[in-house]
Amino acid sequence: MTEATFRVREAVPDDIPLIADQRAAMFLDMRALSPGSQPELVRATVDYLRGALPRGEYLGWIAESITPRSQPIGGAGVQVRPILPRPSTVDDGIERGPEGIVLNVYVVPDWRRRGVGEALMRSVLTGLAERTVHRIVLHAAPDGRRLYERLGFVPTNEMRLETRRGYNKVPRSTTIPTEK
Ligand SMILES: CC(C)(COP(=O)(O)OP(=O)(O)OC[C@H]1O[C@@H](n2cnc3c(N)ncnc32)[C@H](O)[C@@H]1OP(=O)(O)O)[C@@H](O)C(=O)NCCC(=O)NCCS
Repeated sequence: MTEATFRVREAVPDDIPLIADQRAAMFLDMRALSPGSQPELVRATVDYLRGALPRGEYLGWIAESITPRSQPIGGAGVQVRPILPRPSTVDDGIERGPEGIVLNVYVVPDWRRRGVGEALMRSVLTGLAERTVHRIVLHAAPDGRRLYERLGFVPTNEMRLETRRGYNKVPRSTTIPTEK
């Protein structure tokens, strides 16, 4: 039998600084965060989690190495949020929510491509099933896409408008070109 080299456990309030650090490390790896903004992102994340984790609005999982020594090597989280009831093809035809949005999926570089990311995601999915959260969404970075697809996630039709970045570029009116 192969010896286990890591384990995954559910996050507790003492893990809040670690979760915030992992979130910043994830965005740095994705080149979506400038190093100068890292401390503020960590501080704001800690603030948010101090309320959301004890309330159960944020669920987290931490991966820890067992050998050669015990230390955090990754994490994943879920924001559990209410949705407006919507049509569904199961149960009584109505999906009432809540919805889980998977966030903060991160594994330290030395431990990548050893199944840690998949183990974290399987813990997330089991944890959500136990809480009867059936609608699960996420925004996939290129590094995570194959992992999520393997677990059954499919692309959706979501669109996004970044108003602070693009508002001035939104056309005020659309003119239909006339034929010459
Ligand atoms: C995305 C991320 C979390 C994946 O973590 P990971 O621990 O490497 O994930 P896994 O090991 O479960 O799977 C990754 C690959 O390793 C392969 N793998 C798993 N165990 C393996 C092993 N023992 N030997 C060889 N390959 C292995 C998997 O098959 C998978 O291959 P694929 O991508 O070609 O399908 C990690 O790369 C990361 O933190 N990236 C930076 C942050 C990021 O982009 N996060 C995602 C945000 S949406």
